[in-house]
Amino acid sequence: MPKWLNDAVFYEIYPQSFYDSNGDGIGDINGIIQKLDYVKGLGCNAIWLNPVYDSPFMDAGYDVRDYYKVAPRYGTNEDLVRLFEAAHRKGMKILLDLVPGHTSDTHPWFQIAKRARETDLSNRYIFTKSVWDAPPEYRLMCGICERNGNYLVNYFSSQPALNYGFYEITHPEWQLPPDHPDCLRTAEAIRAVMRFWLDKGADGFRVDMADSLVKNDDEKIATAKIWRRVREMLDADYPEAAMVSEWCHPDRAITNAGFHMDFYLDHYGNGYNRLFRFGEWGDLAVFNPNGLGDLKGFAEEYLPAYNRTKDKGYISFMTNNHDMPRVTAYLDKQAIKLVNAFIFTMPGVPFLYYGDEIGMRYQADLISKEGGFSRTGSRTPMQWCAGKNLGFSESDHPYLPVDLSDDAPTVENQKDDPDSIYRVVTDLIALRHKYDDLHGNGELEFLYRDDQIPFAYRRGNLTMFFNPLGREATITTDCDGDVIYKIGDATIADGKVLMKPQSFLLVG
Ligand code: NOJ
Repeated sequence: MPKWLNDAVFYEIYPQSFYDSNGDGIGDINGIIQKLDYVKGLGCNAIWLNPVYDSPFMDAGYDVRDYYKVAPRYGTNEDLVRLFEAAHRKGMKILLDLVPGHTSDTHPWFQIAKRARETDLSNRYIFTKSVWDAPPEYRLMCGICERNGNYLVNYFSSQPALNYGFYEITHPEWQLPPDHPDCLRTAEAIRAVMRFWLDKGADGFRVDMADSLVKNDDEKIATAKIWRRVREMLDADYPEAAMVSEWCHPDRAITNAGFHMDFYLDHYGNGYNRLFRFGEWGDLAVFNPNGLGDLKGFAEEYLPAYNRTKDKGYISFMTNNHDMPRVTAYLDKQAIKLVNAFIFTMPGVPFLYYGDEIGMRYQADLISKEGGFSRTGSRTPMQWCAGKNLGFSESDHPYLPVDLSDDAPTVENQKDDPDSIYRVVTDLIALRHKYDDLHGNGELEFLYRDDQIPFAYRRGNLTMFFNPLGREATITTDCDGDVIYKIGDATIADGKVLMKPQSFLLVG
């Protein structure tokens, strides 16, 4: 287990929207190098970079055309190596995004595999036996290539699934077992990609749809086996490299598959939305000030998973990512401050999505860009300062428009404002680094009773009290430490914490 993870705080960078250093309207790697000090100044000591590989960008780069080449719009392989080196000089780590489940349909492997002539790449993707063979339970693209067969896609139509085999074989005429030599070669090809970038200085990978590899693998047994083999490779040859999975099932990802970290999202209904988002949870979201918040629903999912995985890896909470509406779409500023207090004081390894530190708004009405659709509004350019494109780019045609409101938040107008989200985020990250009890592997004890909100949890000598609701509340406590940090108005005296609406108290 890489030791650095215990005190890691990640910053997610969507490269096309971060900083455009050459005025072509698109963020680039040199732009990220120029802004490393900014990221470090937040207290973040690691970066997750969304895909920077060559791609036709039908899905913002999650449709890889060449795993070994940086997309020219972002720079060159040498630029990426310079980013690794510059980050390392500052004591920071860089995780690339690995997309192992599918490629672009323009990837040379697919260009060969879709031809009629049989080659040693014919089984790199999943084709049925003939075009008339299209079982409805699979997402198949039908009748659009020379080869007499339909192929399986993982996500959009332009993302054919790589072939890692089928755990349960229901169509033996075209489904291969996971231990078929051609399926093993697919996994080998992805390990080769990982080695290539690790040898160049990458510190690991965020793994896209990590649970998607082997098909008909409901319990993810064969998929986990592939990742355990990857973990063995890392342990043997790259012991400081780290992997975080988009799996969202800590038992499977950490315990079975050997990931160091797993994101806590709602793919398996584990409660991210019921904490921070209204969505289907409506008034039941824990941080909804008007709400009837239900902490129990979250705690019953999270705590057992945490207890089973805490000695083996980290669960990762995130302020948001490039796939979900920014939290500004759901919560007011004070609630967002409390959300940050939660994310940066819980165990695990936290992730901050670029722009969330200044409260960037979700831009709901934008036309889809590069397969973004509803996600496009969370992918707009970083807002640095007043002026053209809010400091993102000199171009007249930025990748996406910046927030055009008069009061658009920028780094410049937020960073010295004592009432800003920026202030709370940077304060909390600094406290997380300062107190061992707040590190990734520190202890956690929930002090809530039944489903009550306000709630509190203890980590070692520190206790965090939250009142996310829009009304005053009192918590009885046996904690008698000093106030280390507070958001809103709250006091502790004589075994009672008096909490004004939407407040937080850290006592130790
Ligand atoms: C998850 C990624 O986060 C998302 O942006 C992408 O579209 C899909 N996986 C497909 O790769």
